[in-house]
Amino acid sequence: MKIAVIGTGYVGLVSGVCFSEIGNEVICVDNNPIKVEMLERGEVPIYEPGLDELIIKNKAAGRLSFTFDINSAVQNSDLVLLAVGTPAQPNGEADLRFIKQAAIDIAQAMNGSKIIATKSTVPVGTNELVSGLISSNSIHSFTVASIPEFLREGSAIYDTLNPNRIVIGSNDSETLQILRELHLPLTSNIITTDLRSAEMIKYASNAFLATKISFINEIANICERVGADVTRVAEGMGYDHRIGSSFLQAGIGYGGSCFPKDTNALIQIADNVDYNFKLLKSVVEVNKEQKYIVIRKLQAELGSLFQKKIAIWGLAFKPNTDDIRDAPAIEIIQELINQGAEIQAYDPVATQNFMNEVNNTSIIWCNSAIEAAEKSDAICLLTEWNEFSEVNLEYLGAIMNQRVIIDGRNLLDPTKMKDNLFNYHSIGRPNSI
Ligand code: UGA
Repeated sequence: MKIAVIGTGYVGLVSGVCFSEIGNEVICVDNNPIKVEMLERGEVPIYEPGLDELIIKNKAAGRLSFTFDINSAVQNSDLVLLAVGTPAQPNGEADLRFIKQAAIDIAQAMNGSKIIATKSTVPVGTNELVSGLISSNSIHSFTVASIPEFLREGSAIYDTLNPNRIVIGSNDSETLQILRELHLPLTSNIITTDLRSAEMIKYASNAFLATKISFINEIANICERVGADVTRVAEGMGYDHRIGSSFLQAGIGYGGSCFPKDTNALIQIADNVDYNFKLLKSVVEVNKEQKYIVIRKLQAELGSLFQKKIAIWGLAFKPNTDDIRDAPAIEIIQELINQGAEIQAYDPVATQNFMNEVNNTSIIWCNSAIEAAEKSDAICLLTEWNEFSEVNLEYLGAIMNQRVIIDGRNLLDPTKMKDNLFNYHSIGRPNSI
């Protein structure tokens, strides 16, 4: 199939590359010429394992190209995928500016019948809005569809090529059939629905996963008080298939570009139809508070944090990504600085992005976990990068000013830490303060 993908952000770029990988002819459009030139040279603007090799491979095979010119891309395709950003407005509602503009641009470029499918996460009813904008700006026939994206950053290629399900929403049966055939090489587990249900499935899925995380974080907080171990509790719960073992890792809460934005957007969607989504509001509230546990644990160990040297291990919102959007590290570091602490921070790949976002000259940026820990009064582990569990503990203890570790992701082994004489605290495990 000939596909144009509008927007080369995370979703657009990965989808475009993967559709070319399974044999389609894909042209990816972005209105940022610098980004287009980079991609044309085979340089990838985001850190995503495996993405650069697939871009180079499919470009060489002539199935993948990048352009600034939306007109030629739309005119040379049968299917146009909308994958532009839907950032949050101050009230939490999704900002549809880019979607609306892209719909108008597509309509004005159309030279014949097309399918327009939205991959961006959009509020219920948005595809109908897109349909209205296209019909008032084009004389050509078209149908619309919603194909929500379920990929995770860090395993985006795997998730896209091995999806657990594909959801396709459209009110046109022929469109559903064409899009089903497009996705069949990826999985046979294809759910076809009406437009509005497909839009809702995406929000409901992310909100449910966020709920699991806030739930296990509250269980962890109770475990600390009753002397239970949340990792064993989660394991015991997870064997029940109705519960499942994933997304029950307690820690300092969820971040990233999706859960915080999508939970707030769903609360707003509900509010707009006079429904008070109490459960999801609590999920968001629990997540906001959870990160401050690190500060409380530090204070319990060190007393005042004024002029204490604190090593930060991990800045990204999760491992295997350089994405720091809504990362718990942002607020935790800000609060530590407010309390007069001196920060020595290290992340294997996210430091540059963090420096661009948090422009604080007092932070010392380090090139390794060990460098960050040097002469520190405590380490705060905020992202569970594997390399942090491989550090030589004897050496680590010797270079720190005080042997204090607050593990916000339950990455390290409490027994090993005790054997190496660390005052070690994690989330919801015994000996946690
Ligand atoms: C999430 C969803 O998992 C994807 O299915 C979805 O497509 C994507 O959002 C999206 O809407 O685009 P992502 O944001 O990449 O993917 O990251 P996740 O792996 O889901 O992690 C989100 C956050 O939850 C991270 O901060 C992670 O540390 C935290 N988390 C995850 C926990 O604290 N505990 C867990 O058990 C799992």
